[in-house]
Amino acid sequence: MIFLKTDEEIELMRESNKLLGMAYGEVAKAIAPGVSTAQLDRIAEEFIRDHGGIPSCKGYYGYPATLCTSVNEVVVHGIPSEKVILKDGDIISIDGCVLLNGFQADSAYTFPVGDVNAETMRLLRTTKECLALGVEQAIAGKRLGDIGFAVQHHAESAGFSVVREFVGHGIGREMHEDPEVPNYGRRGNGIVLKDGMCICIEPMICQGRRNLIFEADEWTTRTADRKPAAHYEYSIAVRNGKADILSTFDYIKEVLGDRFI
Ligand code: MF3
Ligand code: CO
Repeated sequence: MIFLKTDEEIELMRESNKLLGMAYGEVAKAIAPGVSTAQLDRIAEEFIRDHGGIPSCKGYYGYPATLCTSVNEVVVHGIPSEKVILKDGDIISIDGCVLLNGFQADSAYTFPVGDVNAETMRLLRTTKECLALGVEQAIAGKRLGDIGFAVQHHAESAGFSVVREFVGHGIGREMHEDPEVPNYGRRGNGIVLKDGMCICIEPMICQGRRNLIFEADEWTTRTADRKPAAHYEYSIAVRNGKADILSTFDYIKEVLGDRFI
């Protein structure tokens, strides 16, 4: 069942997303060679709690941390660890959720660590463009398949592949609500988008093949060919016919400056 949100509810979701975006700004300041993913997780958790939010991934189906920290070939759900130390040339996606005033925020961002090779930078840029192109399709009267097609077409035209096992989703009082929002599809297929729908669009794009391996910890998901994958995510609302982006990368941009892609 899809819950349409009122303008008031959408404004509350913007607030939770602002807090998540600010927490990502704090994490961005710390991302550098030599830093552990556990350290990044502590920064995010402390910031979110200090500002009255709940890091809602923690405890979700037993997930043990505030952030998913997915390095290089890890596509999603990498568990923060003291043993995973970032090094020059890595990429790391951070993905987390905040519950504030009863509403969830969900957003993800993939960062380069130090100097990253040109082909991997192209993967990051393309994945971010996929997100923007998906968002562009999130307007009243379009269908979910229009979003999926836009993402898939851009990724595959660039020579990359699209993850099928994980998809975007509705969001609201729950982190995951209906509908599912695939990053692949056909134009004109799927349900029609309407004002008040709040969804997460989250392309997960692989540099090589899209086949995945699920590690024994039951969370960490990596590419089978161990080539890197990238992931960017926004929570958005369909409002006044258009996509209203509720998440923000502005605080990340402030920190990265010229390095922001
Ligand atoms: N934030 C993720 C998403 O985009 C969910 C993470 S799973 C969790 O849907 F267990 F870590 F919460
Ligand atoms: Co999500």
